[in-house]
Order: sequence, then structure tokens, then C-alpha cells
Amino acid sequence: MKIVLLGPPGAGKGTQAKSICNRFSIPHISTGDIFRKHISEMTLLGIEAKKNIDKGLLVPDDITIQLVEERLKQEDCNKGYLLDGFPRTVAQAKALDNFLVKNNDSLTTALLIDVPKDFIIERMSGRRVCLSCGASYHNKFNPPIIEGKCDVCGSDVIQRKDDEESTVRNRLEIYDAQTQPLINYYRDKNLLSVVDGTQAINDVFKNICDILGREINDNYKE
Ligand code: AP5
Ligand code: MG
Ligand code: ZN
Repeated sequence: MKIVLLGPPGAGKGTQAKSICNRFSIPHISTGDIFRKHISEMTLLGIEAKKNIDKGLLVPDDITIQLVEERLKQEDCNKGYLLDGFPRTVAQAKALDNFLVKNNDSLTTALLIDVPKDFIIERMSGRRVCLSCGASYHNKFNPPIIEGKCDVCGSDVIQRKDDEESTVRNRLEIYDAQTQPLINYYRDKNLLSVVDGTQAINDVFKNICDILGREINDNYKE
């Protein structure tokens, strides 16, 4: 199962990705999480990525594409993976297509978590994340069991620097201009599935499982 997860910032991609990857035993590849890890370790890539991320801008395509291709070549991706936050531009989507064709492979689905803008600012302002394992929490909608500590790994959960309101607005503008076109890109390839992301976290997950179950059956019949 090879899934691309689409949706605006704060749609719940990271939240659902964790559950999907547990359920289907596939690796969760989040470019945002990979960049944040590099930033916390102050690698050269991290220093370069931080300049863009802190302003709400995208990291340049060449850096991002190379990073993802390297990751997809690792053995744990042979049976499938979920890409969260990649592709984010048409150039990235085309690079992924080329990579798949080269490997005689194809995507199972591009799953859009659909959430209107009004919901997003509230979700982002209450979000807290674990920098060690990437788990996402929300002060109101999904708090950790012990305040300030990650349920999964016990590390501190913190507010992301790019979750300040002005940066969130930039990210939403960039999403509209550069990432939204991917919805039609995948619709035209007959690969798009859409889930209503305004529902409660568990209900969104149930709908996603229904969609992925159908995709698995359809592929099986072929
Ligand atoms: P990235 O980390 O991917 O950020 P994003 O796409 O902006 O998405 P978010 O992580 O902000 O939101 P999410 O959809 O994962 O929502 P979450 O589950 O956390 O990227 C960060 C930056 O890195 C980019 O801005 C860019 O600079 C760079 N970058 C990354 N990939 C790149 C690429 N391919 N090319 C170039 N640059 C790249 O949920 C949000 C909150 O809502 C949480 O608090 C959660 O608990 C809560 N929540 C979730 N679902 C629900 C629900 N159903 N009801 C109520 N609350 C909910
Ligand atoms: Mg995320
Ligand atoms: Zn954690």
C-alpha cells in the first residue's frame, strides 16, 4: 500500500498518519518531521531548511526530492509507505511519478483530508508536538495523558515555531498557490480519495479505513 496524504496545514495529516501506519504496518514518511529532526540536530540540511520553514515557506524542491528519494530506497519501504506532506508542488509530484515508474511501481491512492480554513487556525494554535517521535497533540481536542509529556515516548511536547498565527497564514497562502493544484493532478489520474476532516479524530480514521479497505479490495480483484 503506497499512500500520499494531502491536505492543508493542520488538516490532521500527521494525526491520521500515525493511526494508518500502525493499522497497515507501513512506515510514516513525513518530510516536516524529517526536517524538524535535522533542525534539532543542527545538520547542514537542517540549517538550510530552517530558513524557509520558520517563514512558512517551502524548502526548495531539489533538496526535498532528493531527501524523499533516498528515504524511499530504504528496505522498509518495499512493501509500502505513507507520504505525509510530500509531494507539495507539481514538480515534486512529477518527481515521485518518475521514481515510481523507474521502479515499475504505482501509488495506491492520494488521500485528501478536507478541512476548510476556518477550522485551521484553532487547530494550529492549540497544537503541541513531540520532537522525538513526531506525535501531535491538541490542548483541547487531543491532550496528552500527562500534561506536557508525549504518550508514546515520554519526551516533552512543545509548540512548533511555525504555528504562530502570522506564519500559519503564510503557510495557508503557499498551500493554495503551490499544493492545492495537486488535488486536480491526482483526480485527473483517478487516484484521488477524499475524507471529511472536520469530524472527530476517530471518525476521520474510520472513514479512512473504509476508503483504504475499498482500495485494497479493488486492487485485489484486478
Ligand atoms: P509539515 O510538518 O508537513 O506541516 P503542514 O503540512 O503545514 O502540516 P501540519 O503538520 O501543520 O498539519 P497536519 O495536517 O499534520 O495536522 P496535525 O495532525 O498535526 O511541514 C512543515 C514545513 O516543512 C512546511 O511549512 C515547509 O516549510 C516544510 N516542508 C515539509 N514538507 C515539504 C515539502 N514536501 N516540500 C517543501 N517544504 C516542505 O493536526 C493539527 C492539530 O489539529 C493538532 O493539534 C491535532 O491534535 C488537531 N487535530 C487533528 N485532527 C483533528 C480533528 N479531526 N479534530 C480536532 N482536532 C484535530
Ligand atoms: Mg504534520
Ligand atoms: Zn513522542
